[in-house]
Amino acid sequence: MIELKRGDRKNGAIQALLDAFDDDPVAAVHAVRDYVADRQSQARREVAPKGPVLLSVKDITKTYKLGRQRLEVLKGVTLDIYEGEFVAITGASGSGKSTLLQLMGGLDKPTKGDIIFAGKSLAKLSDGKLSAFRRDTIGFVFQFFYLQPFLKLQQNLEVPGMFAKSPRRVRHETARNLADKVGLGDRLTHYPKELSGGQMQRAAIARALLNHPKILLADEPTGNLDSVNGRAIIDLFETIRGELGMTVVIVTHDPAIAARADREIHLKDGVLA
Ligand SMILES: Nc1ncnc2c1ncn2[C@@H]1O[C@H](COP(=O)(O)OP(=O)(O)OP(=O)(O)O)[C@@H](O)[C@H]1O
Ligand SMILES: [Mg+2]
Repeated sequence: MIELKRGDRKNGAIQALLDAFDDDPVAAVHAVRDYVADRQSQARREVAPKGPVLLSVKDITKTYKLGRQRLEVLKGVTLDIYEGEFVAITGASGSGKSTLLQLMGGLDKPTKGDIIFAGKSLAKLSDGKLSAFRRDTIGFVFQFFYLQPFLKLQQNLEVPGMFAKSPRRVRHETARNLADKVGLGDRLTHYPKELSGGQMQRAAIARALLNHPKILLADEPTGNLDSVNGRAIIDLFETIRGELGMTVVIVTHDPAIAARADREIHLKDGVLA
């Protein structure tokens, strides 16, 4: 819902937008909505909490080798993510967004540089330790959900707990609570194919939260959804950040979604723009 403040009416910004789209009411509504979203995100940025640094990306490069060809995808990226932040990573297709997110979550290792997570260097971890780190610390969400088609929702949500060897009762209980939190409490006996796209993504988010991760990394979580469901997913990220004190980093192509984050990180040709 669009809420206007007295100042908006007074400074005439809204009226100017309405006048500009005088002959196209739909475009006028979109323009006003974008204006308000922009102003809200600006306000959010101003009050955004800056806790301690949770994750530091230190001058990383990533080069893929394809036969004799070397593809330098990230060319020296340095950034900090603070505890409790909601950050959006944007950039053109092929600019290295997914690569950066995967490195941040320890799914892959940088060619040079390091990722420091809560003071711990990921570059120094063995593959086994890195995989335990991912399991215990990171929640991943992807564009295509990746729910197991042959498992009911309850079991799908419990999968990360099985790898973490958490007791059955705890797994059951946590999965049920998380299903409630994402509005799927009445769907626990359903298979993924019986859920809508938006519901599948909410299920994937609940699954990502099962092991109480410190950070949620989402790669185009709304890329496969219409705008209404996409907005609902971002609302859910905001709730999770607020209620669970989670840090959230999402990769998105959608400027309206990026505008809702506390901060946008833009990648261009392998460096921060
Ligand atoms: N495993 C890989 N091996 C070789 N090249 C790769 C690999 N993964 C990614 N690349 C290349 O690295 C570049 C960046 O890929 P990446 O997936 O990070 O881009 P992106 O910004 O996420 O793009 P999109 O918006 O299309 O998802 C691309 O040119 C891609 O082809
Ligand atoms: Mg990508």
